[in-house]
Amino acid sequence: TFVVTDNCIRCKYMDCVEVCPVDCFYEGENMLVIHPDECIDCGVCEPECPAEAIFPDTVPGLDNWLKLNAEYASAWPNISIKRDPPEDAKEFDGEKGKLEKYFS
Ligand code: SF4
Ligand code: F3S
Repeated sequence: TFVVTDNCIRCKYMDCVEVCPVDCFYEGENMLVIHPDECIDCGVCEPECPAEAIFPDTVPGLDNWLKLNAEYASAWPNISIKRDPPEDAKEFDGEKGKLEKYFS
């Protein structure tokens, strides 16, 4: 599966949802997550994310993100259509430690 990680938070560009062939993105207030049981590992979302927040779970060190994606994909609503990103998305692009500061 692929996973959404820290830099999605408050950037939430949503380009990823447009390209996913199985619509397996789920939406929280500040970020999206991927449902690990629904993702077919096609990889097309990874290069589409302007924040470079999406990685395959084969990348070392992503265990906590995989857990977070799985947990919230079961709780949040599905999203399959891109909307406008937050107006201040660019201000948060690249900021470190967004999970601790802003996650909701
Ligand atoms: Fe969707 Fe493919 Fe990305 Fe998985 S890897 S979330 S199936 S676009
Ligand atoms: Fe987030 Fe990137 Fe999608 S910022 S909403 S993972 S395009």
